[in-house]
Amino acid sequence: MSSTAPDPRPDLDPTAVDRAPRETGADTAPAEGAAPLQRGVFVAFEGGDGAGKSTQVRLLADRLTDAGHAVLTTREPGGTPVGERLRDLVLEHGDAVVDARTEALIFAAARAAHVEQVIRPTLAAGRTVITDRFVDSSIAYQGAGRGLGTDDVAGINAWATGGLQPDVTVLLDVDPAAGRDRRAGRAPEDRMESEPDAFHTVIRQTFLHRAAADPDRYLVLDATAPVTAIAEHVADAVLRLVAGPLPVLPSADEGTVEVTVTGRDAELVDLPEPGDGLGDQPGTESGDAPAAGRDRESGPVAADR
Ligand SMILES: Nc1ncnc2c1ncn2[C@@H]1O[C@H](COP(=O)(O)OP(=O)(O)OP(=O)(O)O)[C@@H](O)[C@H]1O
Ligand SMILES: [Mg+2]
Repeated sequence: MSSTAPDPRPDLDPTAVDRAPRETGADTAPAEGAAPLQRGVFVAFEGGDGAGKSTQVRLLADRLTDAGHAVLTTREPGGTPVGERLRDLVLEHGDAVVDARTEALIFAAARAAHVEQVIRPTLAAGRTVITDRFVDSSIAYQGAGRGLGTDDVAGINAWATGGLQPDVTVLLDVDPAAGRDRRAGRAPEDRMESEPDAFHTVIRQTFLHRAAADPDRYLVLDATAPVTAIAEHVADAVLRLVAGPLPVLPSADEGTVEVTVTGRDAELVDLPEPGDGLGDQPGTESGDAPAAGRDRESGPVAADR
């Protein structure tokens, strides 16, 4: 039998693939009196072009559905009607000039729609979400590759996503030349893919740097390993997550943004004292953080490099 929760917004995601748990004979419905539905696990795949992200997204979805889990696979930019239109705008070689800041904001806008309309509701319904790229791609491509600054790009994305982070980010690490060879013969290169190797090398280094700074949340794998070996590592890590309790998701308004004004002196604005008519802002000083990430074994993984 199936315990699939209804798709929260099925009409909003033309590319997402929704998978019900495979019929295994096991009863996957929650037992009577069982604990409340746990939110779904959020998995992101990152890595350079041709690293094998789409391949591994599919294999992980297969593995999870075989194990009786409901899974949504999706991609960025895209995943919603507005996101897909923005994807065309920002990836296709067209007449429109897309400067670096505009590019960063288009990616962030598509992501905001994706999180609000698809990812959060799906996780809340208890289903696993597997996305092909997320915030790290913007930090690497626009922040480092385009030179906009990784902190600034992280800031606008924290605001766009309300601070939502994947429970695990699988980084498939590949040399840019190898990634390009793998893509040979496929569709013509998009605006990012057609950038020179130096651009892709910076991106690779940025991904690795971010992963090294947060080893509990990243699974770094050598993307030249056999497809099945990579899939095994990923499945092991994600199945452990699915089995355990998950931290509460940050609420949609928890994204913070640090703005650095350059080119003119920042103006100081006098804030009213409490009681001046605006009232105290509840909760602004509590610094309420989402529940701390749970302990995770370091895993069987991987070519940390
Ligand atoms: N571990 C691997 N070893 C060898 N070839 C692989 C491996 N993983 C994927 N490939 C092959 O490399 C090519 C690119 O894989 P895939 O499309 O999954 O990468 P991608 O990261 O999604 O690429 P893009 O960034 O262009 O979307 C495909 O032909 C795929 O079969
Ligand atoms: Mg792909």
